[in-house]
Amino acid sequence: MAGSGALADEPSICPKGTCDGSGWILGPEDIARPCGCRERKIARAKSHGVSSVIPARYRGVSFDRPPVTQINEAVVSQVREYCDRLEESLDSGRGLWFFGNSGTGKTTLAMLVSKLTLEAGRTAAIYSMPQLLSRIRQTFDSLPGEESYLDLFGQLTSVDLLHLDDLGSENRTEWVLEQLYALINERYEAERSLVVTTNLTAEQLEEQIGERVVSRLVEMCGDPLPLYGDDRRLKVAPPPSDSSS
Ligand SMILES: Nc1ncnc2c1ncn2[C@@H]1O[C@H](COP(=O)(O)OP(=O)(O)OP(=O)(O)O)[C@@H](O)[C@H]1O
Ligand SMILES: [Mg+2]
Ligand SMILES: [Zn+2]
Repeated sequence: MAGSGALADEPSICPKGTCDGSGWILGPEDIARPCGCRERKIARAKSHGVSSVIPARYRGVSFDRPPVTQINEAVVSQVREYCDRLEESLDSGRGLWFFGNSGTGKTTLAMLVSKLTLEAGRTAAIYSMPQLLSRIRQTFDSLPGEESYLDLFGQLTSVDLLHLDDLGSENRTEWVLEQLYALINERYEAERSLVVTTNLTAEQLEEQIGERVVSRLVEMCGDPLPLYGDDRRLKVAPPPSDSSS
């Protein structure tokens, strides 16, 4: 599996295996009826302006390879459960919320969920908070005919999964709070899934992004899945195990 960006749109394979990839099933007398995958095709086309790319560092992420096999088992098993019933999880708007200190695997696990979502033919938008905010700002300078704020907002609210990485790391301004609230509330009302990672506790998050947003997060994502420990980025090789005697 080499190359880049292959995940985002694997085009003409029917995820349900019932049509030829066109989104239509040809019946008797050449009457075509829509395949179950058609709605997803349309959703995918509509999500065109958002980032659905897994960054290179996380592209090979998988349940059966390190680092995932080295991350806290209890948390990984909850992620596995979510992914085992991914379609159902997405359809019901359930999400996940990873919390903990730096370098403990939060983004890794969130990327795994996003990757499986894309591989299942569902739509995902993947952003760190600073990236998302600059993406929104870009649309303010858009010329007529270019993608507008409303287009982007529509895409961000309608993808099956919104992955917000490093929530709370952004500068806190009225504008940022407004954007975040509008986005989260819209997805909350539409029952669309959200995966977030953050270094902040729920209390700190409330301080940073407001109670109203956090309260919706709790309802959408359940309790935060805690990942603690040392920063694994600092550990290139495992330390020698025997230092006693
Ligand atoms: N439990 C772990 N065991 C081994 N390596 C790990 C573990 N967790 C993370 N890593 C590695 O550490 C690096 C950072 O992981 P990741 O980006 O998931 O951290 P994070 O929790 O999102 O950190 P931050 O809060 O700084 O964003 C990656 O290279 C990942 O492969
Ligand atoms: Mg991270
Ligand atoms: Zn089909």
